[in-house]
Amino acid sequence: MTKDDDHEFKIIRELKENAKVVWSDFSLFENFTGTAAPKVVKFAGINANDRVLDVGCGTGVLALTAARLGAKVVGQDLTPKLVERAIENSRIFGLEVDFVESDVEQLPFENASFDCVISQFGHMFAPRPSVALSEMLRVLKPKGTIAFATWPPELFMGRFLKINGKYGPPLPKSAESPVLWGDVKVVTERISPYVESLVFDRNRIRLQGMSVGHIRGIFETGPGPLKNLINKISNEPEKLDILRAEINKSISDYFEDNHLRLDYLLTRGRKI
Ligand SMILES: C[S@@+](CC[C@H](N)C(=O)[O-])C[C@H]1O[C@@H](n2cnc3c(N)ncnc32)[C@H](O)[C@@H]1O
Repeated sequence: MTKDDDHEFKIIRELKENAKVVWSDFSLFENFTGTAAPKVVKFAGINANDRVLDVGCGTGVLALTAARLGAKVVGQDLTPKLVERAIENSRIFGLEVDFVESDVEQLPFENASFDCVISQFGHMFAPRPSVALSEMLRVLKPKGTIAFATWPPELFMGRFLKINGKYGPPLPKSAESPVLWGDVKVVTERISPYVESLVFDRNRIRLQGMSVGHIRGIFETGPGPLKNLINKISNEPEKLDILRAEINKSISDYFEDNHLRLDYLLTRGRKI
């Protein structure tokens, strides 16, 4: 390993340690992202008895929704606190799902062990898209289905993530912005050599909040990158004002009927 590789490896490891902090309280959003899960399960075409892997499962909302159909599901996630909550959720559901703490860039499963590999706003947050994708495809059986939901760069969550990214440290050279997973052209380039019958679709979830300020408050105090960013620049009032104005603008463009509208991209393909 060269000195450069060593440095790159260290930064990627730090990014992942930071991700565990950023996502640790995502259980606060489980009822929100949980509303997308039935749509993603349906889009993926999961059947009873399919062996399914949910990547970046968080608190297990997608995994458990698939298990309710009779699928044999495993959920994996990087963040230990979320895996704990996913196990608790499986008790509440009364369903048996295996939840495993691991990194999508190094999945602890045999080759070709799943009929379906799915992810809902999960694998897109692994820093190296080619590594995450090759692992997801490795554990998928030939003719198996890969399906995922991601945030398009030009719509609310993509814009929100890009604003947050602007204030953070630059990405190391092997990492790419998560929102590229929401761009049909980029996704096609990444995945089409390995899958057939590639299909795209869109769907929507809505976050309740009485005003733009209330919605911003949810992101400032809740899970995800904004809370940490606000803490980091809390002694820089001008920067803080600019950041809040940018966030307000991105929210107001998608605010209607006391809700924030969040449209996402759905991708599905069959492994060649
Ligand atoms: C926006 S949350 C989505 C969680 C869940 N899929 C849902 O829809 O509620 C992103 C998730 O990706 C997970 N994640 C981030 N990087 C990961 C990695 N390298 N490997 C596995 N999971 C990862 C986070 O821990 C977090 O649970």
